[in-house]
Amino acid sequence: MLAPILRRLRWRRMSLWLLVMAIVGCLGFLIFTNQVPVLDEDPLSLKTKLKEAAKAFSWGSDDDHQPPSLQPPPQSPQPRQPTSLQAFQNRSQRVRDACSAKSGSAAQGQPPFPYHSLYVRSMSFCALPKTGTTFWKWILYYVDKNMTGPLLSHDYGDIHKLTRYMEKADRLPPSDGFKNIVFVREPYARLFSAYVDKLFTPRWENWQRLAQPAMAYARPGASFINRRCSHNVTFSEFVRFFIHGEMDRDARVKRNEHFVPISHQCNFCGIGYDFIGRQERFAEDTLGILRQLNRSDILTFSALDEHYEVYFMDALIKYHFEHELKKISATFRCMSAEQILRRMWKAVQIRGTLSAEEFFPLARSDIQGMTLEGFLLMAHLAYNRSASDKDRQHNTAQALFEAYSTVPLHDRQLLRQIFDDDFKLFGYEPNHPLVFPPEDEFDLPYYRYFDIYDSFLYTSIV
Ligand SMILES: *[C@@H]1O[C@H](CO)[C@@H](O)[C@H](O)[C@H]1NC(C)=O
Ligand SMILES: *[C@@H]1O[C@H](CO)[C@@H](O)[C@H](O)[C@H]1NC(C)=O
Ligand SMILES: *[C@@H]1O[C@H](CO)[C@@H](O)[C@H](O)[C@H]1NC(C)=O
Ligand SMILES: *[C@@H]1O[C@H](CO)[C@@H](O)[C@H](O)[C@H]1NC(C)=O
Ligand SMILES: *[C@@H]1O[C@H](CO)[C@@H](O)[C@H](O)[C@H]1NC(C)=O
Repeated sequence: MLAPILRRLRWRRMSLWLLVMAIVGCLGFLIFTNQVPVLDEDPLSLKTKLKEAAKAFSWGSDDDHQPPSLQPPPQSPQPRQPTSLQAFQNRSQRVRDACSAKSGSAAQGQPPFPYHSLYVRSMSFCALPKTGTTFWKWILYYVDKNMTGPLLSHDYGDIHKLTRYMEKADRLPPSDGFKNIVFVREPYARLFSAYVDKLFTPRWENWQRLAQPAMAYARPGASFINRRCSHNVTFSEFVRFFIHGEMDRDARVKRNEHFVPISHQCNFCGIGYDFIGRQERFAEDTLGILRQLNRSDILTFSALDEHYEVYFMDALIKYHFEHELKKISATFRCMSAEQILRRMWKAVQIRGTLSAEEFFPLARSDIQGMTLEGFLLMAHLAYNRSASDKDRQHNTAQALFEAYSTVPLHDRQLLRQIFDDDFKLFGYEPNHPLVFPPEDEFDLPYYRYFDIYDSFLYTSIV
């Protein structure tokens, strides 16, 4: 079953290279002879200016408000270090300062949003979605159950269910001796990532709960099938819906914890958080916190690198085969199996787990007989090949840039207003150049993360 597919894949790869070489050859000739206007950029290259911008991309720094630069940062030869206690103290101080500056000013927009924290031993962890919470639940469970051996050598199954006994809603933790932990995330990136996970990635349950209200609000005249499925709510439609929910006190939409700004949850001004981790520095911050808790023994950088990405890719693939690809799945009334798998593949690329240059591995005719095991094997092969693509860690930034390029300036300005407290409390940059590029010009490369039928390269050879 698999062998012919892999053979075809190799053939497709080879034909791609031939095509690329032919085009590059032609371009080289044209430029050399100077018969046509020279293109500013090689249209085939994924490594355009944006890649440079994305590389330079720092989602805010620890000790200042310096706007991130569009120039690549100097390569730091230093190995990664767990975040220092001083850095955590600085972040807590920033929150205290921002909160005292804020008090007195009239509250705007929506009231604080309910949240819950997990209490284990002398730790409290405020669980904010989309900030690495699943991983932290593994840590809390491991600690509470006195487990031994490396953290990631265990299979935690449905960790959200397993850790439910630790949850307490909205309570102030006892202050003495408790360590309060929370992870935050750059707000534009968090909103984007929530869109990818909840609306772009095929999952009927999410579409029903989150996409249908967005579709009803943003595209009132949509056809019956579009309203029912809501499978292709665009990012800009989603943003409009989100703005409506956050800014309109009378809005009848149900706000969702995945989207609601971080500063509206976890009572930042009421609870003195000892450790404010950042999703952008997840490994460094997680190891930094574990060091302060005297549990450096359970996790290393390399263990985290090796397991984290693949774990989530596998989980996503398994979920789709076990649920969304079942014949009775409601998703099928909206999309074909091929479209479902292609979207899922793109979602893994947007995450940066797979290289953007890894084409979807199946031809249409091979999808019918595909098994979970077969697909996992192909995904792992693609993952191993992706190791050589150092740029894949910038996939998310590029996909984000593509998504925000579709959002009108006015709506982006409203977002900036909605996230104002997030910027102030956590030191993120309100005018991030990937959301507000110079001259408001979005200079996109040819590759499209949100076009499931890939690039013209793909269509021209398959
Ligand atoms: C913490 O803040 C102090 C004073 O602003 C600064 O000098 C120091 O470099 C910061 N440390 C870290 C690790 O961010
Ligand atoms: C773990 O160890 C602590 C102290 O050694 C003990 O109080 C606790 O009951 C143990 N918990 C479990 C689940 O074994
Ligand atoms: C959404 O899907 C429907 C049919 O499935 C199609 O007619 C429509 O153009 C799509 N809209 C977008 C924005 O992709
Ligand atoms: C970690 O160990 C150090 C030194 O043994 C101790 O002073 C500190 O209180 C411990 N911290 C925690 C959170 O247990
Ligand atoms: C991917 O690489 C790892 C480590 O080199 C190896 O153990 C694994 O078998 C490879 N996976 C596949 C599917 O070849």
